[in-house]
Amino acid sequence: MGTGKSYPRLTADEAAAMIHDGATIGFSAFTPAGAAKATPRALAKRAKAMHEKGEPMRVRILTGASTGSAIDDALAEANAVSWRAPYQSSKNLRKRINSQDTEFLDMHLSHVPQMIEFGFLGHIDFAVIEAVDITDDGRVYLSTSSGIAPSVLRHADKVIIEVNRHHSRRLAEMHDVLILPPPPHRHPIAIQHALSKIGTPYASVDPSRVVGIVETDEPDGVSAFDAPDEVSNRIAQHVVKFLLDEIRAGRLPTTFLPLQSGVGNIANAVMAGLGLNPDIPPFTMYSEVFQDSLVDLMFDGKLTGASATSLTLSEEQLQRVYEHMDLFSRRIVLRPQELSNNPGVVRRLGVIAINTVLEFDMFGCANSTHVCGSQLMNGVGGSGDFVRNAYLSILVAPSVAKGGKISAIVPMCSHVDHNEHSTQVFVTEQGLADLRGLGPRERAKRIINVCAHPAYRDYLHHYLAAAPQGHIPHDLRKCFEMHLNLMDHGTMLPGVEVGAG
Ligand code: COA
Repeated sequence: MGTGKSYPRLTADEAAAMIHDGATIGFSAFTPAGAAKATPRALAKRAKAMHEKGEPMRVRILTGASTGSAIDDALAEANAVSWRAPYQSSKNLRKRINSQDTEFLDMHLSHVPQMIEFGFLGHIDFAVIEAVDITDDGRVYLSTSSGIAPSVLRHADKVIIEVNRHHSRRLAEMHDVLILPPPPHRHPIAIQHALSKIGTPYASVDPSRVVGIVETDEPDGVSAFDAPDEVSNRIAQHVVKFLLDEIRAGRLPTTFLPLQSGVGNIANAVMAGLGLNPDIPPFTMYSEVFQDSLVDLMFDGKLTGASATSLTLSEEQLQRVYEHMDLFSRRIVLRPQELSNNPGVVRRLGVIAINTVLEFDMFGCANSTHVCGSQLMNGVGGSGDFVRNAYLSILVAPSVAKGGKISAIVPMCSHVDHNEHSTQVFVTEQGLADLRGLGPRERAKRIINVCAHPAYRDYLHHYLAAAPQGHIPHDLRKCFEMHLNLMDHGTMLPGVEVGAG
């Protein structure tokens, strides 16, 4: 690898001082993994100081997905974010977005690199990218995530590289970078297996655009997962049983298919449940994030290969990976998110996708993003890339939230991220509803009987029976009654408050 000796060395404050009010910045980050750290933190400090002097300082931020605290938390706290895309999971930023201080563009993650390439997201002034190394001729060896970094390196006017000494330089053995050419010059993507490699181990940048290097030595700061609770374990059991039944019924090959698993504690519990079950054959993953539970599955030989765009690992698990690079570097491929989440590849490989949502409706639509149709939680992320294109798409959620005041099953979703044409299987701790081949009324009965919490079943059955006739029997005067109750009385059905059991 190179030394990058020809580039100026900058302090984080010097790097932040180059960034002007109104600039569009592409930061590396896919979760806290591989996120730029020192420069955005210094930028937040500078923005605060400027605001105190009455000077404007707000920037437009693009990343791969959510970020470490130095980007979304710090910059939102300083009220320095005017526009943000494509995903976030920061409390500070969520507040800014929901109070309309920050404009937020909620996007399918696979679309972001091509939107940058096509110029639909506007001009990018700065790229701030974490790497483990850069060569004088512009090869950038990325750290723990790929995301949109290769695309912003190509399009930004000025590039700041944070060289983070904390990470293993052997991460290059996992990266596989390719930017797809624009249509009509696209050839089939030659990914036939989770571990297929079709690109280079580095991203490229025009060296004349690199304005400096900031040296850092800092962990990603990914939090470890909570131990799975009873609800997550029950959801995991339903999913494992279903997949075993599918193998027995001949609808899944005995060699299994690659898995994708969404973010969060339930997804982590499901992966652990699949790993523990001796009847589930060893499998591969074609997913977005490589998270904690997968490290043990790889050590155990249950997970034989994984494609992802980030190594979102707690420090303890990441160090285990670094200590055993001979094992892990041959079994993990990190791709730009256009390829890790590519709809065509997901469909070709026949991925089994498991994602968490906030609410389902009785006719098969699902809401991953907006509480009561209005308050953003995180964003659609990569869920749409997988839900729509998977061979088998499984959506999971606890049947109730907030001590039972909220039912995850409602007559009509208050916001739709995944519609009934894309969804296939819904799971709560109450049970698993296989919706394949069912029409609207059949779906509704199955979802209510199998997935809804018993405390809400009568209401939902009554809604279905009383709704005016139609292919999808909806009563537009009543379909949001549960949401209106929640907004007016703090509970979807006055008087109903239950545990999730
Ligand atoms: N209405 C209102 N609030 C709800 C709700 C509903 N129907 N369902 C859940 N909530 C609340 C929970 O009470 C919790 O609130 P808290 O933070 O105050 O405790 C919060 O939403 C998160 O719920 P939780 O059960 O902890 O779920 P989670 O951490 O697994 O996150 C999603 C669930 C849907 C927010 C998350 O999976 C997500 O952002 N998904 C979209 C992106 C995605 O799927 N990415 C993966 C693709 S690869």
